[in-house]
Amino acid sequence: MSRPAALFSNAGLRRVGLRFIRSLRGWGAVATALTLGGFGLCAENTPQRNPHFRPGQPWPDTQGTHLNAHGFCILDFGGRHYWYGSHKIAGKTESEKNEAGVRCYVSDDLLNWQNAGLVLDVFAPGAHPELADAPILDRPKVIYHAPTKKFILYFKLYPPKSQGGKSGTDFAYVGVATARAPTGPFLYQGRFLGGNSPFGTGDFTIFADHDGSIYHLGVRKPDKVHVGGRMSDDGLRPAGDYVELAGITLKTEAPALFRRGNKIYFLGSDSSGWAPNAARMFVADTVTGPYQDLGNPVRGVNPHNNLGPEKTFGGQSTFVYPVAGRRDAWIAMFDINVPQNPITSGYIWLPIEFEGDRPVIRWRDQWDLSVFPTK
Ligand code: DGJ
Repeated sequence: MSRPAALFSNAGLRRVGLRFIRSLRGWGAVATALTLGGFGLCAENTPQRNPHFRPGQPWPDTQGTHLNAHGFCILDFGGRHYWYGSHKIAGKTESEKNEAGVRCYVSDDLLNWQNAGLVLDVFAPGAHPELADAPILDRPKVIYHAPTKKFILYFKLYPPKSQGGKSGTDFAYVGVATARAPTGPFLYQGRFLGGNSPFGTGDFTIFADHDGSIYHLGVRKPDKVHVGGRMSDDGLRPAGDYVELAGITLKTEAPALFRRGNKIYFLGSDSSGWAPNAARMFVADTVTGPYQDLGNPVRGVNPHNNLGPEKTFGGQSTFVYPVAGRRDAWIAMFDINVPQNPITSGYIWLPIEFEGDRPVIRWRDQWDLSVFPTK
């Protein structure tokens, strides 16, 4: 596993901490709740341990640098955890090309993450122009595909603005890359327009169900109906037709699915660009629906920005992770988008509780895996 040098010097790290705090202020944060000590800046050059999940706080990797992997997912493989997300480029805003590719981190405890480098590098010599020229490479999702023993990476891939229709973002592809090891390198396999639409899909997820079926769910462009369909046996292309997901509210974005027994739960958001909005939860008997609306699962207030259920604590869903080794245990995962300075975007991880069959995501200042029963 290659281990790139830390991205920031100590001074740079201090700047990132300050930028992170300022960016949260921009979102109405109560910045006094954040401290540089919280970023681990006291112990300069000393590898540090994160003892708890601290939603909405800077999250240093094992070198003390705030994690840079957004729109992310977590994959368990061989007893280790892998975090994949878009690597945001320092100094770039969301109005510019701001992603260098997909970064991976590795962990044994979900709290402390070692930088495993860019596993898909859009600026690498010889990178395919569809990657190198893409203005947006967003929401990466990775699965392990047992039949081919490959890791498959999917991502939202926009063409250059000049090829993107009237608005420059009229259509979006799903890009696909594969690797033989979880830490890559991932090799680009091409892209597809999903949803049986010539405009493709916007926000999406890939859900690997317990029987091995792989589904692509996404916001169909241009009408923003949520659709879903099976992927081919090799996982690289849609197998055929998509269906409209009956019961999913129009313009639902940021899909994150999980299976609990015989039910499929769908966590998502409304559609408001990079600004936070209210989360949504739906339930169905099958991945392709029909879904029943369970309302907003969010409870409580994020004290760092005073945002509650109507703004999802300032976050937007990206993934729901089934906790390895724990019973009835899922973590709801959100990005805190900071479009003016995306490298400082934050993370919210919270355990999912159940009130009967209804998932609830309650704010906690800090927590650890002991909230879940062991198997
Ligand atoms: C909301 C999406 O969920 C994000 O991933 C991003 O595409 C923004 N919209 C862009 O406005």
